[in-house]
Amino acid sequence: MPIRQFQAHRMHAPRDFQAIENHPICIEIGAGKGKHALLFSGQHPDLKLIAIERTREKFLAMQKQHQLEGQSNLTPMHADALPWVVHALFPQQVQQLFILYPNPEPHNPAQRWLNMPFFEFLISRLAVNGTITLASNIPEYIEEAEQQLKQVWHLPYEKQVIASDSARTHFEVKYLERGELCQQLIISKPENYTTRFDDFQPLRGQNTQVTESKDGE
Ligand SMILES: C[S@@+](CC[C@H](N)C(=O)[O-])C[C@H]1O[C@@H](n2cnc3c(N)ncnc32)[C@H](O)[C@@H]1O
Repeated sequence: MPIRQFQAHRMHAPRDFQAIENHPICIEIGAGKGKHALLFSGQHPDLKLIAIERTREKFLAMQKQHQLEGQSNLTPMHADALPWVVHALFPQQVQQLFILYPNPEPHNPAQRWLNMPFFEFLISRLAVNGTITLASNIPEYIEEAEQQLKQVWHLPYEKQVIASDSARTHFEVKYLERGELCQQLIISKPENYTTRFDDFQPLRGQNTQVTESKDGE
């Protein structure tokens, strides 16, 4: 069954939204306290990364550490990723997208990233040969994502087991210390892949009734 179309035009601009330029960019969604964002931007000074985190305390921790380390190619962003992506990103702008250890949403499968109509919009922002890295410690989360990739999104991917000494994020450290199996999918966007949003230009702060933050986040 085709997934219902994401209502991009209905997204209100995030609070204090600032537009970005249309240059190649990497994006992390749900960056937490920014461990991966700080590492990645340090290791790839030639790439620009915007690390989005919705929860205020975690965003502030990332911002504080970023001020200490000072990577000029990293921009921490306090926002809900959905409206921010719709307002900020241009089609095919994203080189690499990271979603590392997303909330498993046990009672709300429709809120898992690959089950959301928004995922189609996200693919439209990805450059040809761009990648999405999706990591999880929950085998069923990875299996469901694989099924969605095959049956709904028709995107190629590679499945990898994460090494037990990897330490990219706070959650990764915690899960690997507990001896849990952590896996990731590296999803890539082939040439000639089309979505219903390929001509959708960023709203750039139009529609400016600001989004309310969720649960005080
Ligand atoms: C389980 S934590 C993982 C954090 C980090 N990636 C790590 O591995 O340590 C998931 C994070 O995603 C954030 N998040 C969930 N939905 C989001 C959204 N729509 N926009 C931005 N951040 C979101 C949550 O606030 C939370 O910090």
